Amino acid sequence: MYRNTPPTIHLKDYRPPEFLIDQVDLRFELDPDTTQVEATLAIRRNPAATRGDGNLRLDGEQLELEYLAIDDRPLARSEYRVEPEALILRRVPDRFRLVTRVRIHPARNTALEGLYQSGSMLCTQCEAEGFRRITYFLDRPDVMARFSTTLIADRDRFPILLANGNPGPSQDLGDGRHLARWDDPFPKPCYLFALVAGDLHQVEDRFTTASGREVSLRLFVEPEHHDQCEHAMRSLKKAMRWDEERYGREYDLDVYLIVAVSHFNMGAMENKGLNIFNAKYVLARPDTATDQDYLGIQGVIAHEYFHNWTGNRITCRDWFQLSLKEGFTVFRDQEFSADMGSRDVTRIADVRNLRNRQFPEDSGPLAHPVRPDAYIEINNFYTATVYEKGAELVRMLATLLGPDAFRRGTDLYFARHDGQAVTIEDFIACLAEASGRDLGPFLRWYAQPGTPELEVRDQWEDETGTYRLTIRQRIPATSDRPSSGPLPIPVAVGLLDAKGRDLPLHLADEPAPTPAGTRVLELHTDETSFRFVGLAARPIPSLLRGFSAPVKVRYDYSDQDLVFLMTHDSDGFNRWDAAQSLAQRLLLQGVSEPNTPLPSGFIDAFRRTLTDEDADPGLRAEILTLPSEAYLGDQMETVDVEGIHRARETLIGQIATTLRAELLATYRANQDPGPYRLTPLAIGRRALKNLALAYLMHTSDDETLALCQAQFAAHQNMTDVMAALRWLVEAGGETADQALDAFYRRWSDDALVVDKWFGIQALSQRDDTLLRVESLLDHEAFTMTNPNRLRSLVGTFCLMNQLRFHAASGAGYVFLVDRVLELDPKNPQIAARLVQALAQWRRFDETRRGLMRGQLERLFHTPDLSKDVYEVVAKTLG
Ligand code: PHE
Ligand code: ZN
Repeated sequence: MYRNTPPTIHLKDYRPPEFLIDQVDLRFELDPDTTQVEATLAIRRNPAATRGDGNLRLDGEQLELEYLAIDDRPLARSEYRVEPEALILRRVPDRFRLVTRVRIHPARNTALEGLYQSGSMLCTQCEAEGFRRITYFLDRPDVMARFSTTLIADRDRFPILLANGNPGPSQDLGDGRHLARWDDPFPKPCYLFALVAGDLHQVEDRFTTASGREVSLRLFVEPEHHDQCEHAMRSLKKAMRWDEERYGREYDLDVYLIVAVSHFNMGAMENKGLNIFNAKYVLARPDTATDQDYLGIQGVIAHEYFHNWTGNRITCRDWFQLSLKEGFTVFRDQEFSADMGSRDVTRIADVRNLRNRQFPEDSGPLAHPVRPDAYIEINNFYTATVYEKGAELVRMLATLLGPDAFRRGTDLYFARHDGQAVTIEDFIACLAEASGRDLGPFLRWYAQPGTPELEVRDQWEDETGTYRLTIRQRIPATSDRPSSGPLPIPVAVGLLDAKGRDLPLHLADEPAPTPAGTRVLELHTDETSFRFVGLAARPIPSLLRGFSAPVKVRYDYSDQDLVFLMTHDSDGFNRWDAAQSLAQRLLLQGVSEPNTPLPSGFIDAFRRTLTDEDADPGLRAEILTLPSEAYLGDQMETVDVEGIHRARETLIGQIATTLRAELLATYRANQDPGPYRLTPLAIGRRALKNLALAYLMHTSDDETLALCQAQFAAHQNMTDVMAALRWLVEAGGETADQALDAFYRRWSDDALVVDKWFGIQALSQRDDTLLRVESLLDHEAFTMTNPNRLRSLVGTFCLMNQLRFHAASGAGYVFLVDRVLELDPKNPQIAARLVQALAQWRRFDETRRGLMRGQLERLFHTPDLSKDVYEVVAKTLG
């Protein structure tokens, strides 16, 4: 039990800071055990703020204060007070220079916030509130200062010394130590501060910006990874060019630094001029990284680069505005990835991710608006809602405005707010002004939690050739907040004729039709009707093309309609979506009535897609992938864990048996013995081949097992090796053990590959998986102190293996909570993420519900929980 409930922070309580900091000069004497930090701050009263009690309260946690002076005069004990989370200076002047010196202990920092040790290097993570673990400061994003950083460290242990901005003079201090100075000319909030010290391998490249500025690009990795940097560097250059072309944004410093670290809580961090990355999003070689890894790296490198404008040059006024930078930046990286690869496949992956992660979040106990209005621990709000739903909101704005007005709007935003810490309203106001549209109602999207539903009805009038679509929006009620009113929703639609061709779209109140294809209908009220005229026969509607809004569509398609759309829609995304809807329908039927025959045409449509040589193989692979067990569970009133598994396995089996010949042919036709290439075509062919393998291995016989083993042994690339290993593990027995042993022996020195080895075992649907996972806790390579390793074993099992985590015995729940209790004192951020595996507890049957609640209560009654875990548990129990 939390002794005193931690305080809740509210958006409505925002006040401008009473003091501002113009300049910060930091001096670090770095050492893993004890580092000394001296900070010189130029502080002045904020003319725009109301005067308080005259005291100055600086944030600071786990700091040992050694020295404190105002304008060179050391302070007496009566002039200040040290609290666990603050330093309070009594009655300070209106303008003064503060010097503080503190000691901190990086090697003991297991939370990985502030300054910490990763392997032999020292690095920082300050977002959201880590800077206060480095020095006393006004740790809030609306305090923007110029920073200079001086780093002093042992030359042999830490030959590389990095910080934000441009490099300044460096110096040998003669006593075995050296010094480096960095200057960042751009004012920034302290969450963007970073430093790195280590013995690192450097890869260098150059980039010339559109206006001719020469930028030195440098990637730093642990020396053994020197040959895994090429893809990250190439991705960075592509992202820099793309941002110039699409948004007119250029880079602004002389150097751009990226450091890969092995211990990192999140994906990566956009610190000004010095991005710090989870090594997982930097390192790749065809034999160590899968296609998904390659795409992930490209996306995250771009994401952090794009933050230089959307996040750094323009930042958030307060943490409630987090989606201002994250939603927009995710939208930007998604569009970049779509431009670099296959647009349809990229969109499908993004929407699948949204539906699998954000939709459940938005309907569960942790639901919150894209702009939350209250939090206990801000680290708990780096969520799928703030990031991915936030990106969907920006996408809708781009759709509503069209490319030209949207670009004018973003240009205005960059021009008007450069150097400022702003709000979501400021962003929307620029888009509104540049487009002449009233976007006031759109702000409701930022305040309203829950996934809206669109109920679509239609009506055909044969005599007049008129087709009427009526769309009603329904926003699910949440207990504690009134509906914000109707949302503006762009609905992209097409109408298909009987041959599957797009029809011209002629709305009744318009003089002429728009050409055949897609058009965006806008909803502004609870219910809207659209009358299309001039049609020869009843069309089939293709709704919400490209997933033009983050909503659920309810329309009564027949099975035949879905088969038709799955094979004919000109919108690739909707071909996939139709296949998903149909598969979902069949699978849920299979749960309740296991022996329902498949509708005619389903297997046929599958066969046609499998063998449709004209279509993008990547898209075909997506269309033929069945919805996940967790996603199916989310569609049920009460999740039927075993029923879903059984139904899904049955359908896979039917497909595999009926289409065996076609699957084998597809497998063979998409073998590619050539060198590894990362084109959308090559990626798509591997995906299709490995999809065929997955189906074939379901009814594994000697022939398919041999194929799978051969693919595993061939070591063509990690994509193929992992695909094969996955099904070998599932097949079990000696084959599985041999493959796992061989894999581990080969890769035991490459941490990221070892993570895959743990993950694949945690994902297995075999009934002894929990036992295996438990014994892997004792494996020589397992450690709780590396977040990637922990996620690969514990995270994968609890968050991605619905069947085994939710075993009816409840053993999975006990296992999870044991791990959370072990982890919470060390790394509360990651502990709080793991607890979310129990967030959906109310959706399960009574037995499981009781077991999960029991474990949540066990947590709730633990003394001294972190704020992070407390908040998640308290909200989950409700
Ligand atoms: N701001 C980072 C990003 O989205 C994510 C992050 C948040 C990293 C907090 C570390 C800590 O790019
Ligand atoms: Zn981000």
